[in-house]
Amino acid sequence: MEIVAYGVLVDEEPLLQEAFDKAFADGHELRCLRWFLDRDTAPTAHGHEVVLSSVNDTLDAPVLRVLAEGGTRMIAQRSTGYNNIDLTAAEELGLSVARVSYYSPYSVAEFAWTLVLAVNRRITRAALRTRDFDFRLDGLMGRDLRGRTVGVVGTGKIGAAFTRIAHGFGMRLLGWDIAENPECLALGMEYVPRERLFAEADLVSLHVPLLPDTQHLVDAGALALMKDDAILVNSSRGGLVDTDALLETLRAGRLSGVGLDVYEEEAGVFFLDKSLEVMTDERLARLMTFSNVLVTSHQAYFTRDAVGQIADTTVANIEDYFAGRSGENTLVPPPAA
Ligand SMILES: NC(=O)c1ccc[n+]([C@@H]2O[C@H](COP(=O)([O-])OP(=O)(O)OC[C@H]3O[C@@H](n4cnc5c(N)ncnc54)[C@H](O)[C@@H]3O)[C@@H](O)[C@H]2O)c1
Repeated sequence: MEIVAYGVLVDEEPLLQEAFDKAFADGHELRCLRWFLDRDTAPTAHGHEVVLSSVNDTLDAPVLRVLAEGGTRMIAQRSTGYNNIDLTAAEELGLSVARVSYYSPYSVAEFAWTLVLAVNRRITRAALRTRDFDFRLDGLMGRDLRGRTVGVVGTGKIGAAFTRIAHGFGMRLLGWDIAENPECLALGMEYVPRERLFAEADLVSLHVPLLPDTQHLVDAGALALMKDDAILVNSSRGGLVDTDALLETLRAGRLSGVGLDVYEEEAGVFFLDKSLEVMTDERLARLMTFSNVLVTSHQAYFTRDAVGQIADTTVANIEDYFAGRSGENTLVPPPAA
């Protein structure tokens, strides 16, 4: 049987193929496609029982209907987050869905810190300058992190890994979550109301999933509470931040640095080469004009370790589907026979 994978990145393909070959030495073939799954491309899944998707594929009800009509029965999402999949529609259409509930949280936590350090110490500007043989330090001054306050929004696996690093820097730890993490408490984290976290933190890092009640968690009100010279980093999901409110805040000269690995409207842009096109997303274009904003293209998870684990777990999820098993990665079990 041929299994089709959408939105496969160049560096991801060998790892996915390796995991696939190990599990299905003969019997199934993997077809990796560079393009993403959406309403235009959904018909290309026709005849494929198993479809592999990723964060920037669109699996809304109309797309899922095309898949189901074409014979698809199982969707294996190659990520932890699944806000791009309409699970209710999938269940109604008899499509089973699995995701990768665990892979190296260090990949994302370490990248979030990469953004923090880069914006705090003005690394982008510094690197551009030295390339131009301009060795001045004007405008490159950062701040020590030791003794400053970090606000960790979401202290699950990634938030906890981020907190351990913050502890290593000697920072005061504030957290906000619906459930307190004993590991973070043991590091000295104080759980506080969200408003207090925004008001007291010198650095806010987001690690909650995107859900209806976390949508625009960083809105105009939250941004107004933040210190003028605070740093904001989002390596979770773009929809957590109200981009218009963030632009307004930056225009007012507030916040000393912002690191964004994710963006509300990233689907159809991130992971793609748009360098030869006119940038039609005015908000993204405006974000890029601020020298204290660093945007990366949803690459926090992109380490060899994490992508290898995602590939292995995705293949295990497909094996479970063929064996009729459900487990911790199952979001929608196969319909009862
Ligand atoms: N940029 C990337 O490459 C990348 C990669 C992987 C994950 N992520 C994002 O990171 C997020 C966190 O991943 P994780 O592995 O730490 O997940 P996790 O499930 O271990 O942790 C999520 C935390 O958020 C908390 N939470 C859930 N709903 C909440 C709510 N409504 N209000 C407040 N807190 C809530 C949970 O209690 C939990 O502690 C994912 O949902 C995903 O969006 C991004």
